[in-house]
Amino acid sequence: MEVLIFDTPATIGCYVADLIQAVLGRRPEPVLGLATGSSPGPTYTELIRRHRDDGLSFAHARAFSLDEYLGLPADHEQSYRQTLRRELIDHVDLPLDRLVTPVVDALEVPERAEQYDAAIAAAGGVDLQLLGIGSDGHIGFNEPVSSLGSRTRIKTLTDETRHDNARFFGGDAEAVPRHVITQGIGTILEARRLVLIATGAGKADAVAAAVEGPLTSMVPASALQLHPSTTVLVDPAAASALSRRDYYETVQRHKPSWQR
Ligand code: GLP
Repeated sequence: MEVLIFDTPATIGCYVADLIQAVLGRRPEPVLGLATGSSPGPTYTELIRRHRDDGLSFAHARAFSLDEYLGLPADHEQSYRQTLRRELIDHVDLPLDRLVTPVVDALEVPERAEQYDAAIAAAGGVDLQLLGIGSDGHIGFNEPVSSLGSRTRIKTLTDETRHDNARFFGGDAEAVPRHVITQGIGTILEARRLVLIATGAGKADAVAAAVEGPLTSMVPASALQLHPSTTVLVDPAAASALSRRDYYETVQRHKPSWQR
């Protein structure tokens, strides 16, 4: 894996925005894999700025989200579809019907999950997949002991993840849905490029286990070791449990495009 250590989350956001801008410029119908949570926030802020100030266009792109809560009304502000609209899509020129999220009626989940993987394949596969990491090492909502070959499917959240995500539900872990639909680890690994963002000390152990630990379903993010093109971007706090700091690159000079 390529591991890059940046001084701030904002600098990570600028770097990842560069990667996404390159994909948008390179392919006639680029396919982006979007993530939710706090980690991609600075990237979305920078993409919105580039759209507004520099004319960066998403008009020909398509976007697939990683995962979704089950049991929330479609218009619930914490559904991942609404979150992606609020944090990115409604501020750029990506047509809303090109944002594909696994919003489902729970009764239809198995069929819809298969269709989700088929839709990604029909779009030509994901060019760049953004990822965060859970404090228990999950990616998407693939909790520990998920099959490393799994496909999009229903999962049950651990108490740790519901506790972590309670901050989006007024601090009430019981309000966090218990069930979700998530791209499988096998699905995620099919993206052409993976970009994992982790910031803050709460991610340090998970990052170290994913990057330096053994490949194990106990740490779903360790499956990224199998992918030929994964970049892990961390701030110093999230890098603090990595033991081989000499293996990794510290990026000090990456400047936002308007400062270059
Ligand atoms: C949720 C999401 C993940 C995300 C993780 C970390 O569980 N399903 O995709 O990576 O949270 O979120 P954050 O970036 O807010 O720490």
